[in-house]
Amino acid sequence: MRIGVLTGGGDCPGLNAVIRAVVRKGVATYGHEFVGFRDGWRGPLEGQTKPLGIAEVRGILPRGGTILGSSRTNPFKIDGGVEKIKENLASLGVDALVAIGGEDTLGVATKLDELGVKVVGVPKTIDNDLNATDYTFGFDTAVNIAMEAIDRLHTTAESHHRTLVVEVMGRHAGWIALHAGLAGGANVILLPERQFDVEQVAQYVEKRFQHQYAPIVVVAEGAQPLDGQMVLHNQELDAFGHVRLGGIGQWLAEQLEAKTGKEARTVVLGHIQRGGTPTAFDRVLSTRFGLQAIDAVHEGDFGKMMALRGTDIVRVPLKEGTGELKTVPLERYTEAEVFFGS
Ligand code: F6P
Repeated sequence: MRIGVLTGGGDCPGLNAVIRAVVRKGVATYGHEFVGFRDGWRGPLEGQTKPLGIAEVRGILPRGGTILGSSRTNPFKIDGGVEKIKENLASLGVDALVAIGGEDTLGVATKLDELGVKVVGVPKTIDNDLNATDYTFGFDTAVNIAMEAIDRLHTTAESHHRTLVVEVMGRHAGWIALHAGLAGGANVILLPERQFDVEQVAQYVEKRFQHQYAPIVVVAEGAQPLDGQMVLHNQELDAFGHVRLGGIGQWLAEQLEAKTGKEARTVVLGHIQRGGTPTAFDRVLSTRFGLQAIDAVHEGDFGKMMALRGTDIVRVPLKEGTGELKTVPLERYTEAEVFFGS
């Protein structure tokens, strides 16, 4: 079989580990051939490929990013996009695809599967907001990076008796904020799932100062204060048509400084959370997803997404993983609230 592999959406530590596992098992165990598609769905859309064999995947396990490149191209938003993909797959002799991506990339895979393209999906996102899998790879790495930053910020906050507001990624789901906040001992955690009352956050901050400690506030980039406390922060589209978020951390620090009279600073972790080498957990998860994905292709079990359930890697219909995002349930937030302000 000749199998195409692509990576779409925001990059994520562990993408290369998936590619490596797919190719290594695909070649060594099954004798398949591979073709790499460049930059997500843009590759099959424009027929842009790169060689993908054992030599190309050697040494990439610990490397962040993706050797195939990525983009947020959606062929369903382009006139004749789907037909073009089908033509290119036929002319390149590609029998099946392994698509590695998040909500958008796998959403495209789901629709292509319904249109007869042979495809399997591997879920990736640092946000951990894909349904049907307990975890996505990249999340553990992002959380560890944010946790380390929080650990470091505790000591500088203490030295200067300042509030430190740490803005982490997460537009629609606050998994990174919740886990990094819990692991790093944050004093307040704010998520997109639940609007926050800035007056209450200020009270938590004051309480922490009363205990002679400096507060760390972790805020997800998509978190919002109660209606009326602030007009929606910067949500313009950038030159590429993506929603630009960010800015909530800065706004919050200014508010907290004004309300508590204590100096506040903001740290926006941004793309640092997505860069660099994956943790051991993410390398193992990516590798196991890759091995399961090539098994699915080899067995002709298309239209499936790889998923982690407990400690098992299983295959679920692509549709189950996309459509609705997995957000943080209220009980997980309530659990964390015990630590707020103390
Ligand atoms: O989906 C991954 C993610 O890193 C989100 O957490 C973040 O909101 C978004 O991508 C940022 O996208 P971009 O890299 O296009 O700015």
